[in-house]
Amino acid sequence: MRPIIIAANWKMNTTPSDAGPLAAAIAAATDAPDVVRVICPPYVCLAPVREALAGTGVAVGAQNVHVMAAGAFTGEIGAAMLAGLADWCIVGHSERRRDQHETDELVGRKLARCLESGLRPIWCVGEQLDEREAGRAEAVVREQVREALTAGGLADGAWSSSIVIAYEPVWAIGTGRTARGSDAAAMAGAIRAALEENGWSHAQAETVPILYGGSVTSASIGEFLAEPAIDGALVGGASLKPDEMAGIVARAATTAAARRAAAG
Ligand code: 13P
Repeated sequence: MRPIIIAANWKMNTTPSDAGPLAAAIAAATDAPDVVRVICPPYVCLAPVREALAGTGVAVGAQNVHVMAAGAFTGEIGAAMLAGLADWCIVGHSERRRDQHETDELVGRKLARCLESGLRPIWCVGEQLDEREAGRAEAVVREQVREALTAGGLADGAWSSSIVIAYEPVWAIGTGRTARGSDAAAMAGAIRAALEENGWSHAQAETVPILYGGSVTSASIGEFLAEPAIDGALVGGASLKPDEMAGIVARAATTAAARRAAAG
């Protein structure tokens, strides 16, 4: 059975002084041991968030990592620097693809860097609006999967149990517009098929949790978790609001209990 995961991507919000109290408030509002909870604050807030979350069961993630281990890369953060601060790391978010021109090739190498450094990557994929309107959404995402697996040397599936994939249609991010649950589920199926086509076993492709991201709120989460192919959410704007996170994680806990009961 795949875990249910709710990950918070705070993006470029919060400061070292307000991040800890916000993280603590979210942890207190989302006490659900069956749901894997992860908060990804900005780098400079990792330490206070880590401290605030000690003993709560909520994990900490970074929003990015540099592809190289160390060296002359002014302003960058390498995986080894995150040791003791973060256990997870978002990789390939569409805002970085857009603003920092990250390619699938780079994303694949960053995935490999995370995995060999002990960070669990939340690997983001997703199509643009024009690609969906042209009927190419699944082809685009399948190609994203293929290129990153190839570049990262991840086609043998050896790391399948450490990877989480987030399907985030770019047109749904920060727009208040969500995909339909059925479309997200179809994409999760396409992603698992692409993993298999590129070398993973069926069992490995079935093991990887796939999250939905894009304008998720406590009101919309249910539509996604109703889909057996979807295993949680990567939440942006709503993840800065403890009340919203309480509703999202409560719904996720219901799903986790139902899936456990169904699995016997
Ligand atoms: P929003 O939930 O604000 O649309 O952001 C989604 C996202 O990009 C999470 O990584």
